[in-house]
Amino acid sequence: MKKRDFLKISSALVSSSLIPSSLFASPTNKKKRVRTAHIGVGQMGAQDLNSIASHKSVDVIALCDVDSNAIIEASKLYPKAKTYKDYRKMLKDIAADIDAVIVSTPDHTHGPASIMAMKMNKPVYCQKPLTHLVSEAREMKKLSEQKNLVTQMGIQVHSFYDYKLATILIQGGIIGKVNTVRAWTNSDHGGYDGPTPIGNDPIPESLDWNLWLGTSPERPYKKDFYHPGEWRKLINYGCGTFGDMGVHIFDTPYNALKLGTPLTIKSECRKPNSYSFPKKNRVTYKFPGTAYTTSNLTWIWSDGHYPLDEDNLILPNQEELPMQGSMFIGEKGRLLLPHFMEAPRLIVDGNYKKIDTSKYSKAQKIGKPIRKYNIATKIHYHEFIDACLGKDKVSAPFSYSSRLTETILLGLIAGRFPNKILHWDNINAKFKEDEANQYLSGSYRYF
Ligand SMILES: NC(=O)c1ccc[n+]([C@@H]2O[C@H](COP(=O)([O-])OP(=O)(O)OC[C@H]3O[C@@H](n4cnc5c(N)ncnc54)[C@H](O)[C@@H]3O)[C@@H](O)[C@H]2O)c1
Repeated sequence: MKKRDFLKISSALVSSSLIPSSLFASPTNKKKRVRTAHIGVGQMGAQDLNSIASHKSVDVIALCDVDSNAIIEASKLYPKAKTYKDYRKMLKDIAADIDAVIVSTPDHTHGPASIMAMKMNKPVYCQKPLTHLVSEAREMKKLSEQKNLVTQMGIQVHSFYDYKLATILIQGGIIGKVNTVRAWTNSDHGGYDGPTPIGNDPIPESLDWNLWLGTSPERPYKKDFYHPGEWRKLINYGCGTFGDMGVHIFDTPYNALKLGTPLTIKSECRKPNSYSFPKKNRVTYKFPGTAYTTSNLTWIWSDGHYPLDEDNLILPNQEELPMQGSMFIGEKGRLLLPHFMEAPRLIVDGNYKKIDTSKYSKAQKIGKPIRKYNIATKIHYHEFIDACLGKDKVSAPFSYSSRLTETILLGLIAGRFPNKILHWDNINAKFKEDEANQYLSGSYRYF
């Protein structure tokens, strides 16, 4: 089924009798409580659920998961919430009773579920990466802007002190104009280089496999290959290590340097197959210059133990690089931003140089570093709820996070053409290399 047709069916479910109860789009509409519906409540979804519910003005109304075990666990904490297996049925049944939707499913379901909720005028908090396809990212940006909806992507470190501080430092010119950003993780958890599994295993009784597959292509169920969590290694459902971690680690450089869309993208990785992402990748982007960069910017990502032996990654005192993070390289020095919950470090002429953080923290109201993850993480979720209540602004709305996601997705497409430079035409949303354009959007399975 064409994506367009799926979206038509989803829209048809939003009948005219279901006038959206949430009119948060209007800043004059003052609400006192936010009633939430959660799609995907296992693993990260459980964290999303508890963090959203920790806001004193939230009432959890509905829980949806395709695995009944996840529903059983979540229901223990929110026994009054209605439960569902199919998000389409949930949204249709209770549209009038909810004010916001939280999407915490595997990546391939982010777009279809969020778009359906947004068409019902619901504010949406959606996990990262925002979408699985470039076309979905563009559609979500358009919808959120047209409908003026409160939206937030789940990149909670975006709201952490160290990331805000690094942004202020870079924009304040602490290392001059930036020419290169290097970003990395040593992890290869989102890659798989083995053979495509053959045969099938019995589908666990708790899992609705058809609903799990959703709009993505059908596959026979195989234990330990898809659900839970393993899907991130697979092209039809996830976005590899790059999509999983790159979106977090690239967020601060992307935001601080006010980058737009890249001009060119090149990926160095193993020969592609149509099943899984490589365990080891290096992706090089060229961006046009901005106010904070030299006339153009090179951004290089690597994952899966790609050698980190470039001169501009050497740390003072022969220290080892953090396992993951980013390095801004500028005219006057370098700024290292470990991922995560560590302060940025300034390096000038091969030595660390102290940063007077107090002057930035006070002037820009970025608060103090919080070193407890479960406390720091709530900021981003509460920001979304407060924005729904008209009391705050979101910091990672879809208008921003769709562009960040699109950039990462373009890098994944480049992985289909190792060592080839792809040229991106932002205005027309297509590559100059026509063979790459087939991967920008996909056809949706009818389920
Ligand atoms: N922001 C972060 O720090 C962070 C960390 C981990 C994961 N994530 C993101 O969270 C999302 C989920 O990742 P995960 O590791 O928890 O995956 P997971 O596979 O472990 O869990 C996904 C949950 O969603 C449920 N689910 C799957 N399809 C569904 C559907 N169509 N409708 C309703 N429920 C469905 C599953 O049954 C499961 O309970 C991903 O997008 C991932 O990138 C973000």
